[in-house]
Amino acid sequence: MALVPDAIGRLVPAGFEVVVERGAGAAAGFPDEDYAAAGATLSEPSSLLDGADAVVRVVRPSADEVSSMAAGTVLIGFLAPLTDTEGIERLRRRGIIAFAMESVPRITRAQSMDALSSQATVAGYKAVLIAADRVQKMFPLLMTAAGTIAPARVLVVGAGVAGLQAIATARRLGAVVTAFDVRPAVKEQVESLGARFLDLGVYGEETDGGYAKGLTPEQQAVQQAALEERVPDFDIVITTALVPGRPAPRLIAASTVGQMRAGSCIVDLAAEAGGNCELTNPGQEIVRDGVTIVGFTNLPSLMAADASRLYARNVSALLQHLAPGGTLALDFDDDITGGACVSRPTEEVTT
Ligand code: NAI
Repeated sequence: MALVPDAIGRLVPAGFEVVVERGAGAAAGFPDEDYAAAGATLSEPSSLLDGADAVVRVVRPSADEVSSMAAGTVLIGFLAPLTDTEGIERLRRRGIIAFAMESVPRITRAQSMDALSSQATVAGYKAVLIAADRVQKMFPLLMTAAGTIAPARVLVVGAGVAGLQAIATARRLGAVVTAFDVRPAVKEQVESLGARFLDLGVYGEETDGGYAKGLTPEQQAVQQAALEERVPDFDIVITTALVPGRPAPRLIAASTVGQMRAGSCIVDLAAEAGGNCELTNPGQEIVRDGVTIVGFTNLPSLMAADASRLYARNVSALLQHLAPGGTLALDFDDDITGGACVSRPTEEVTT
């Protein structure tokens, strides 16, 4: 949900009138009564958009939904501005003033609006729980009268926000964790969480925003070969490697999976961008040679209550930035407003 009752309880006194689609929050554990008690009006989908100055949602709207929005409406959500050029063009043609959560600049002033980070945190946490559930092995070192159980060995590939949360979660469960990233700057962060940094000798460049730039095909081949040697040592591999706007780097070849022990598990958080593992089937969980490969594309939706609580905070912060006191006041020269805007009727649009 883009807004949870708590968030509405703060927006209404701040000058907003909020209308919520009837039943929309039920599956995430937020019943209509709680929305009503927080000050929202419940509405049927057919009349939901009537008179709305701003529409907040989780994912991008369908073509039909865009055509039912009035020109000049503000839209906030995950709009995939780097990959869904058709969708952004549709918004532009319709005259929608669209703000993509992915495009909110990652500057200190906008930290409370950073939905990429909040949802990656949920995904990294959930990925470890899914892996822990799939493997036939316990995570901690156990010394019992019935013998000693060695701790699970976890490899996290890509130590951005999701990867760091996966490391922390796997460590809390007692696993021995190793992590790898092409940005050498993360070594210290990995080690501060009690994990070992795996140096494969492959380093990429970093953009000003702190993102990895794509590797050259040669670097990628070196990385794949190095991983082919190391990956079979692990019971669990969590992959989170992404390069914004590009297909996910292919890091784990089918032949590498073939060398993993039966009963081990890969959770591929890059599945939506095609996957870091060659065998990942986006949206699916498969078993190949006894290795489970989980390619779910929307892990936060499996922790919908907390994912929504965090997202609602991000959305409310952006909304209050765009409409202080509940009245839209869009200053496109502002870093956050201009940076997050991916479509507006007058040109000079950032994507
Ligand atoms: P992301 O989701 O785009 O990528 C995940 C990770 O994959 C990154 O750490 C990237 O270096 C890594 N990666 C890319 N290609 C790889 C490859 N071939 N092999 C191994 N790893 C690979 O990134 P995310 O998690 O959204 O953020 C990345 C960075 O952005 C953060 O670590 C931080 O530096 C910066 N950031 C800054 C924030 C702020 O200042 N407010 C907030 C959040 C992130």
